[in-house]
Amino acid sequence: MSAAHTPIRLQVDGRSVTVPAGFSVAAAIAQVATAFGTRKDASLRAPLCGMGLCFECRVRIDGADHQRACMTLVREGMRVETTTEPAHG
Ligand code: FES
Repeated sequence: MSAAHTPIRLQVDGRSVTVPAGFSVAAAIAQVATAFGTRKDASLRAPLCGMGLCFECRVRIDGADHQRACMTLVREGMRVETTTEPAHG
């Protein structure tokens, strides 16, 4: 098995998810959730651009708020929370 296909296990909102190495956190979240959090008006957020511009995919990763899930690669043991407080509304 090549390193690119090594399974990586992480937690998304307390649920165990396994994806291949090289996947983005956004791809891992998509395995178990359809929303990436909420805006101030309680509407649901989800990735729009997929290239780091819109911040609609921001989540908490290992305790750090407002990380862009589309720009972050999965790491073994990572803890992802999709319920971060909105930064920009
Ligand atoms: S989807 Fe736009 S910044 Fe991640």
